[in-house]
Amino acid sequence: MTQIAGEAASEVASPGATEIRAYDTITVTPCTPHIGAEIGNIDLTRPLSNRQVEEVHDAIIAHGVLFFRNQKIDFEAHERFVRYFGEPHIHVGGKGTASKGVPGHPAIRKQYFDANSKRVSGEEWHSDQSCAEIPPMYSVLYQEIIPPNGGGDTMFASAYKAYEELSPSMKTYLEGKTATHDGARGFDKNADVYPTAVHPVVVRHPESGRKLLFVNREFTSHINEVPPAESRHVLEFLYEHISRPHWSMRFRWTPHAIAFWDNRCTQHFAIWDYWPNVRSGYRMFVKGTERPKAA
Ligand code: SIN
Repeated sequence: MTQIAGEAASEVASPGATEIRAYDTITVTPCTPHIGAEIGNIDLTRPLSNRQVEEVHDAIIAHGVLFFRNQKIDFEAHERFVRYFGEPHIHVGGKGTASKGVPGHPAIRKQYFDANSKRVSGEEWHSDQSCAEIPPMYSVLYQEIIPPNGGGDTMFASAYKAYEELSPSMKTYLEGKTATHDGARGFDKNADVYPTAVHPVVVRHPESGRKLLFVNREFTSHINEVPPAESRHVLEFLYEHISRPHWSMRFRWTPHAIAFWDNRCTQHFAIWDYWPNVRSGYRMFVKGTERPKAA
């Protein structure tokens, strides 16, 4: 259990925390005890065996976000990887939503940022598209061009560990509360579609069975059951808590690396420290299969 000086300790020692286990077909090297693992001995430019897919699935459930380096995938390989885990999810919200896909691949979105960019995607802590009724289960981000002098890292945080490290009284307070996730907060101001959804503040992951905090600074506008000022202060505390270094990590991209993350139990933050340099890649989502459920 992570003990933080001056704060109440968790009531239990991280139930269901990452277990170190053996894998037959891939190598899994944890980045931190609570989130992230680098996967080796795998070639995503080629079809995977059933056993490999099973092991990648087990690894993402255990670590929340996986990283694959030196995978020069094309659009077909990107989509094939997504389909091992579900259906592609078409981005909700934004201007001309459907037209933003790559020609012939509506579920693949190009991300290209350079000296002319006014903003980049994901510059605030969030889980992808949490403003959707059924948010995408996973995201698969492939980077082709990385800024030459470093920068453009992505941070990831464990929403499990953040929940587990709340005080018992805060856990009791949050139980049963819901929050509104508003696309107008996250999408660019020219968007013509702003989805909004209400989700429980504390959610149980449908596969791991672990509880987690499901509010994020980018999309969550307010907690529904309390007055606005109380909601604002509680959310501010939770946003700060989720982003603590104790359960977050920073991934340094290399060209042709892939990050594969579970939006049901992680949040991420794209650092725009590389202007005016270029960072460019392609992102896909795996469609969610159910609404986030109260724990
Ligand atoms: C995102 O949040 O959509 C993108 C993350 C990144 O570019 O690192």
